[in-house]
Amino acid sequence: MSEHLSERFSKYRAPGPYPDIKVERPNIKYAELLMDDYAGIVSEFTAISQYLYHHYFFETISEELGDLMEGVSINEMYHMEILAELILLLGGDPRIRGGESTQGHYWNGSFVGYGNHLCEQLQLDIDAEIAAIKSYRKHINMIKDPHIQAILERIIRDEEHHIKLFEEQKRKYNCK
Ligand SMILES: [Fe+2]
Ligand SMILES: [Fe+2]
Repeated sequence: MSEHLSERFSKYRAPGPYPDIKVERPNIKYAELLMDDYAGIVSEFTAISQYLYHHYFFETISEELGDLMEGVSINEMYHMEILAELILLLGGDPRIRGGESTQGHYWNGSFVGYGNHLCEQLQLDIDAEIAAIKSYRKHINMIKDPHIQAILERIIRDEEHHIKLFEEQKRKYNCK
């Protein structure tokens, strides 16, 4: 990401640098685990799509809300790119599909939590982040590669930051 872009979007990610993107050695099983985080049911690609969809409505409510959903979606795109690079280094092929969660099938739009109004949509977004963190933690335990573990830990910090940002908006709009 260019310097200019990373400056503008820095408030939508946790502070601090990302570890180098590298792996100890190719491992196709690890690549397959990451396919679920990449474009499975609970995945970066689902998050990108969901937040972009919510952005269309939120920007009619306020500029802050619209920018938030766009900014977080772009941070998820960065996560997706990191996962793609890891999948390639591990010997996989980052097509837009999941692993176990989709039985290897391509991603589809039914994975998105659409929702019908602001509070419901913010809650779906928080739920998506919680599910993503759970999946990353599971994979940190299964993938015995310290480089990948460090990268997934860094992504989790962004997801935790996203939960904070969404919770802030829930409070602001008096959601339950
Ligand atoms: Fe993410
Ligand atoms: Fe996130």
